[in-house]
Amino acid sequence: MQLLEPGRIGTMVLKNRVIMPAMGIRGTVEKDGDWGDRVIAYYTARAAGGVGLITPEMVFVSRALELAASDCIDLSSDEHLKSVRRLADSLGKYDCKLSVQLTAGFGRVVPPYILPEWWTEDPLPEHLRPVSASVNDNHYLPDKRKFDSRPLTTEEAAALAQSFGPAARRAREGGAACVELHGHEGYLLDQFMTKLWNRRDDHYGGTRDKRLNFAREAIAAIRLEAGEDFPLIYRFGLTHYLPGGREPEEGLWIARELEKLGVDALHVDAGCYETHWWPHPPQYQEPGCMVSLAEQVKRQVSIPVIAVGRLQYPDVAERVLNENKADFIAMGRGLLADPDLINKVAAHKEEDIIPCIGCHEGCLWQMAEGKPTSCALRPTTGHEIEWPLLPVKHRASLLVVGGGPAGIEAARSGVERGFDVTLWEATGQLGGNLWPAAEPDFKLDIARYLKYLRHLAKKLPIEVVLNKRGMAQDIADFGADYVVLATGAKMEALPFQSSDTVKVLSAIDLLTGKETSRGKNILVMGGGLVGCETAVYLARQGKHVTISTRRGKEQLGGDIVDRSNREMLIAMIKDAGIRVHDNAVPVRLDNGAVVLQTGGPSNEGGSGPVERSERDELVDMINQNAKDSALAKSGDSGIAGEIVVAADSFVFAGRLLPQGALAKEIAAINGSTQNILSAGDCVKVDSIMHAVWGSFTAVREIAA
Ligand SMILES: Cc1cc2nc3c(=O)[nH]c(=O)nc-3n(C[C@H](O)[C@H](O)[C@H](O)COP(=O)(O)O)c2cc1C
Ligand code: SF4
Repeated sequence: MQLLEPGRIGTMVLKNRVIMPAMGIRGTVEKDGDWGDRVIAYYTARAAGGVGLITPEMVFVSRALELAASDCIDLSSDEHLKSVRRLADSLGKYDCKLSVQLTAGFGRVVPPYILPEWWTEDPLPEHLRPVSASVNDNHYLPDKRKFDSRPLTTEEAAALAQSFGPAARRAREGGAACVELHGHEGYLLDQFMTKLWNRRDDHYGGTRDKRLNFAREAIAAIRLEAGEDFPLIYRFGLTHYLPGGREPEEGLWIARELEKLGVDALHVDAGCYETHWWPHPPQYQEPGCMVSLAEQVKRQVSIPVIAVGRLQYPDVAERVLNENKADFIAMGRGLLADPDLINKVAAHKEEDIIPCIGCHEGCLWQMAEGKPTSCALRPTTGHEIEWPLLPVKHRASLLVVGGGPAGIEAARSGVERGFDVTLWEATGQLGGNLWPAAEPDFKLDIARYLKYLRHLAKKLPIEVVLNKRGMAQDIADFGADYVVLATGAKMEALPFQSSDTVKVLSAIDLLTGKETSRGKNILVMGGGLVGCETAVYLARQGKHVTISTRRGKEQLGGDIVDRSNREMLIAMIKDAGIRVHDNAVPVRLDNGAVVLQTGGPSNEGGSGPVERSERDELVDMINQNAKDSALAKSGDSGIAGEIVVAADSFVFAGRLLPQGALAKEIAAINGSTQNILSAGDCVKVDSIMHAVWGSFTAVREIAA
């Protein structure tokens, strides 16, 4: 397999073609940002798992201009050299090399809320003002002039570019095998390279050639200080997919220029914060969604090209190499979900790989909340030291009731701890609500995860009993030492009976194939994740689809945690031509139609007006700006009255209700709930991460 063959970048030889790209680890670092034991354990687990080159999160070349910017370490002094060396040594034990990603900083994408007193109207102290190539609005609060970045002076820009030199030298002294320049995703270095954000007329702007001067000087400084032979990778986006941003033509010119400057490899992706679903591709993107961009660059240069973006599928990654579309594969989240991915490929055990589901919930969102970057499917990622599963002290039995993701995770962690595990599943197949979730063709990741869980359940030394509904008396009679209830959730009852002209069915029944829709016109009731995905699924089958949601349009897909995922799904709704009626409640079926009551007060839950601070309002504004989309601004708005929507079928994507009564029923028999644990949707309807982490925690904390 080419993926496992050695490769060369400049003077650096790697044992295989797999690179772990930089991913922020805000919550994993020590208080002073240093890479301590937790960070070493996290990266070393990936090195032990077979990857050839690891790039930790970005490292500042200087903090002088962005004092409050983040916890990331900087290499402007020797302060963090020791921890870089420790990490390089630790990775080296597995013949894995270290790449240090050097950044100029955030610029206009600095999160305002990390600045002190950010929510007030008071001007920021001059030394804390965001900086950029030109005056630019802040990505998060574009309407707040207070956060507009000031342009760096020519002298400041020159000094910042020079700072790359000593930082690269220190990286080399610390044992790094190469450095990577963080020139993508609309960060400060990219802001200098891009006309949209660089409107200078000095040495650093005015023409595309001058906009590259900042990068040129940074590269020259690295060469001077760290040596001509020290490999240098440049990471940049071929296009921003943003009006006014970089187009591929200029991107290809940049690639050729960088090659002329002696860069040793190009790491190619796309997008920026405004088009977040490119640099952070959700599950809806195709596997290898940015490979065609890497390929275009590869046709223009003779230095190695690194492709990235949903390449955790080994067959897809291998094909990219075989077809000569790239020379190396960067795998980010795939290695968060499964640190042993490469070893499993080498051992021909691909079916054992825990497949990243592109949800961003355990990685990006945990990081955004200041918690260790982890994984929805693998809670121990980023918690390698804190959350070990300790072996039970005495033999004990564990009964798991329910065979969805929560139940299977309970069984898996139970086995890891040494319990004798039995799993009862009420239906004839494992997987629970993953079955409907995996049905749309744009849910390949969930389909893979479902396949993986079923395979896992077969491999685990557990007794699986299908078609066994766990009734309270049966569970009590079974007499297990511990019980985990993972009985999931069910959709609420349909609001209408089918009429002669309108077929009424639930989204779950539609997606599991239990029911089929009728006719061309379909109204989907429900603007959450299930409703939105079901609407796109139907529209892609050629149906005319309308969504009705009793919330406002800005709440569409509001239960999706990650912004990339939500924004892309909303774009898919728009592309599919789906009409959205918000603040609308279906009140009755008519002749081949559904009548919606619109514009009334939203009947979503809530406890009346809440006193809100200025700060809360701003937090809302940030969230709203992040979630805003073309679709949210289009369509009908809530005018009071009735709307008649032509519909041959009414698909109900209602609330899922927890099936959580068993615990009390067992308690009534046993006289206690002791040793009866519950996890997943039967506790609170939520995401796959909630199910997996809930079970993992429940089993980990059993004092046995
Ligand atoms: C939690 C998280 C943090 C990230 N932080 C960085 C970063 O510091 N620097 C960077 O260049 N890319 C960063 N990225 C982008 C990744 O390097 C990678 O390009 C992206 O996850 C797509 O690759 P994948 O589909 O293999 O995960 C981050 C991604 C994630 C999920
Ligand atoms: S949290 Fe989701 S997106 Fe992130 S690595 Fe895990 S499965 Fe992938």
